[in-house]
Amino acid sequence: MTGDDPLEESESGEPLTEGGEDAAEPQSALRADGGAAGADDVALDPWGSSSVSDYRKLFDEFGIEEFDEVLDEVPHPHYLMRRGVIFGHRDYRPVARALQNDEPAAVLSGFMPTGDPHIGHKLVFDEIIWHQQQGADAYALIADLEANSARGMSWAEIDEHARSYLLSLLALGFDPEDGTLYRQSTNREVQDLAFELGAEANFSEFQAIYGFDGETDVSHMQSVVTQMADILYPQLEEPKPTVIPVGPDQDPHVRLARDLAERMRFFKVSEAYASFELEPAERDLVAGFYDRLDPADFDDDDLRCVHVAEALEETPLSDIDADADTLSSVLTKLNEAGMEPVRPRTRFFDRRATDDAFDALIDAVEGEKRVYESHVDAFEIDRAAAEELARQVEVDNGGYGFQPPSSIYHRFMTGLTGGKMSSSVPASHISLLDDPEDGYDKVKSATTGGRETAEEQREKGGKADECPVYELYAYLLAGDDDEFAKRVYDECVGGERLCGDCKEQAAQLMKEFLADHQEKRAEVEELLEDADIELESPRRR
Ligand code: TRP
Ligand code: SF4
Repeated sequence: MTGDDPLEESESGEPLTEGGEDAAEPQSALRADGGAAGADDVALDPWGSSSVSDYRKLFDEFGIEEFDEVLDEVPHPHYLMRRGVIFGHRDYRPVARALQNDEPAAVLSGFMPTGDPHIGHKLVFDEIIWHQQQGADAYALIADLEANSARGMSWAEIDEHARSYLLSLLALGFDPEDGTLYRQSTNREVQDLAFELGAEANFSEFQAIYGFDGETDVSHMQSVVTQMADILYPQLEEPKPTVIPVGPDQDPHVRLARDLAERMRFFKVSEAYASFELEPAERDLVAGFYDRLDPADFDDDDLRCVHVAEALEETPLSDIDADADTLSSVLTKLNEAGMEPVRPRTRFFDRRATDDAFDALIDAVEGEKRVYESHVDAFEIDRAAAEELARQVEVDNGGYGFQPPSSIYHRFMTGLTGGKMSSSVPASHISLLDDPEDGYDKVKSATTGGRETAEEQREKGGKADECPVYELYAYLLAGDDDEFAKRVYDECVGGERLCGDCKEQAAQLMKEFLADHQEKRAEVEELLEDADIELESPRRR
C-alpha cells in the first residue's frame, strides 16, 4: 500500500521541543510531541511512503521554518498553532500580516478522494476553515485528476469519496457561499493555468524533484502541473498572500509552485552597483566595500569600479569574506567596467515582459533612471517600492504578478496502535465515518505512553509526549480549551492520571465528537447540494 494521504505518510518522530521534561514551561506542556521511535529517515515524497522521524531535519535540510517564530504575528492563533501541531511554514508572514490588517489573503488546500475522510484530514479542514473565519478567501478542491492518474481510482469511487470529504468540510464549518469548492477535472481555468505553468517546467526538473522516470505516466505529470495551478488559482484575479496548509510530504509541490510563480513574473528586481550583473555573493562583497570606501578619497570625488578593484586587491585574503571564485569574478567585472562610477541602484530585469509592459515600466519609474536593452536601473526607488511597482506594471499589462505561495505544515498523527497511522489498518486511525461506538472502542484499545504498573505510573508519571491518546486530546478532543489539554498533560506526567481513566475519558469524547460530527454531516447535505461544485463526474471509467 502506498501512501496517499496524511495517514499513510504519518509517522511522528522525536519531539520538536525537547520532551516532557519541559513540562514546567507552559507552551510545551500543550505540545503534542508524541511519536513512534525508530522511524525512517526524512524523505519527502508526495506519493511515496514519506515519513518524518525528526522534524528538526525539515528545518535544516529542507529550509522549512519553525512556526513558533511567526506565532506572535498571527491574530488569534488556532489551537493547532498554539500547540505546535502546526510546526512549520514557508513564508507565512505575508499571510499573517494580511489577516492582521484585513487585507486580501487566501487559503487553499486539496484532497485526493481515495478513501474516507479521517481525523488527519480534519486538521487540514480546520486550518482552511480557521483562515476563512479570519477573513481569507477560502478554497478547497477535490484532486480527482490526481486520484485517477496517480492512484488509479475509478470515477465512481472518486465521486463517492469526494462527496464525503465535502460533507465533513461543511460540517466542520466551511462556508461554501463565501468560499470556493471545485474539482480539478471540471475547472477549466485551472487546466488552462496548468498548461501555461507547464511551459515553465521540464522533465529533468520533475525527475529531480519527484523521481519521475521514463515509465512515469504523462497524466501523472499533468497532475503535478494541475496541482501547481491549484496552488496559484486564488491569485488568478489579483495577486495576494496565499497559504497552502498541508502535511510536510507536500513540501516538494510547494517549493516547485513557489519557483514557478517566480518564473512567471515579468520582471526581476535586484540591487546593483554598476551596469553589470552581480551574483548575490559578489554583490555582498561589493556592498561591503562600497560602505567602507569614502568617495572623497578618489579623483573628482567619484568612486569608480577600478577603485573598488584596487581596494579589494590590497585587502589581505583573510579579511575578505568570500571564496576565491567569487573574488576573482568580481575583480574581472570591476576591472572590465573600469572608470564607471559605482552607484547603488535598484534594477528591473526584463524576464518575460511584453514590449508594451517593458515600455510601461520605463515610464513608471520615477526619478533618475537608466534604460538598457533588457533592464532598467532606478536610482531613486528602494527595493520594496520597486517590487511593488514591478508587480503593478505586470498586472496592468496582462500578467499575473503572482506572489510566491506560502505554506504551513502540520505533524502527522501517530497511529492508535503505535507506529504509523495507516488507512489499511483500521484500528490505527479513526475515520470521520466510524460508528461512534467503534471510535470509542478504538480509543479504548489504543497504545499509551503509560508505565508497566499503576505504581510506577504514580511514581514516574506517564509519557504524554509518546502517547497517541494524549495526541488525540491535543489535536482534537480538547478543542480550543488549552487549559484542558494542559491539565491532561500535567496530570499525566505528574503521575496523577492513570491510563485506564484517561482512555475512558478520551474514548467518551471521541464517541461524542463522532456522533456530533455525523449529525452535522446529515444537516449540511442540502448545503452541499446547493454548493457550486459538480458532485458527479461525467466520466465513468
Ligand atoms: N497532492 C495532494 C494530496 O496528495 C492533493 C492536492 C491537489 C493539493 N492539489 C492541491 C494539496 C493543492 C494542496 C494544494 O493529497
Ligand atoms: Fe497517555 Fe493518558 Fe496514559 Fe498519559 S495517562 S500515558 S496521556 S493514556
